Amino acid sequence: MSFTKLKKRILFVCLGNICRSPAAEGVFLSLIKRKRLEDRFFVDSAGTGAWHVGNDADERMLSAAKKRGIILQSKARQVKIEDLYDFDLILTMDNENLAAMNLLAKDKISNIKAEIKPILSYSKISNSLEVPDPYYGGANGFENVLDLLEDSCEALLEELSLME
Ligand code: 4NP
Repeated sequence: MSFTKLKKRILFVCLGNICRSPAAEGVFLSLIKRKRLEDRFFVDSAGTGAWHVGNDADERMLSAAKKRGIILQSKARQVKIEDLYDFDLILTMDNENLAAMNLLAKDKISNIKAEIKPILSYSKISNSLEVPDPYYGGANGFENVLDLLEDSCEALLEELSLME
């Protein structure tokens, strides 16, 4: 089997795994579905915190995503050490998640295969590398998160497709 046919494994990470990272997972899944590339990727999301483990995505994010035709089906889970070995790409939402994942990877850096970076490093519209946490804000925050994620996930997929 050619290496290029192996599935690329992508994990999106935020704090609670009920707003930003499930949205990123849903946006990316919907993109690869539209482009019929589902068999090329394994996509998941997780949170650095454990408060919401087992929960559906936040109602406000579920409905904002649904309005864009994106159904979020993930259940929250916490990141685990194995994620560093199981995924090729770990994409964080903000500096806090990035630092938490880098800390988890500390001392294991030579063995892990995952590349850890901010999802917004792919963005064409954002000057910031942080997807703002919408949890304590209004509805506009959820729309903003989806705008940022749609933009960066498209660029991510474009880059991954070019690398093949
Ligand atoms: P997320 O948003 O990290 O995008 O899922 C949050 C969800 C829950 C909390 C904070 C952020 N919380 O404090 O419970």
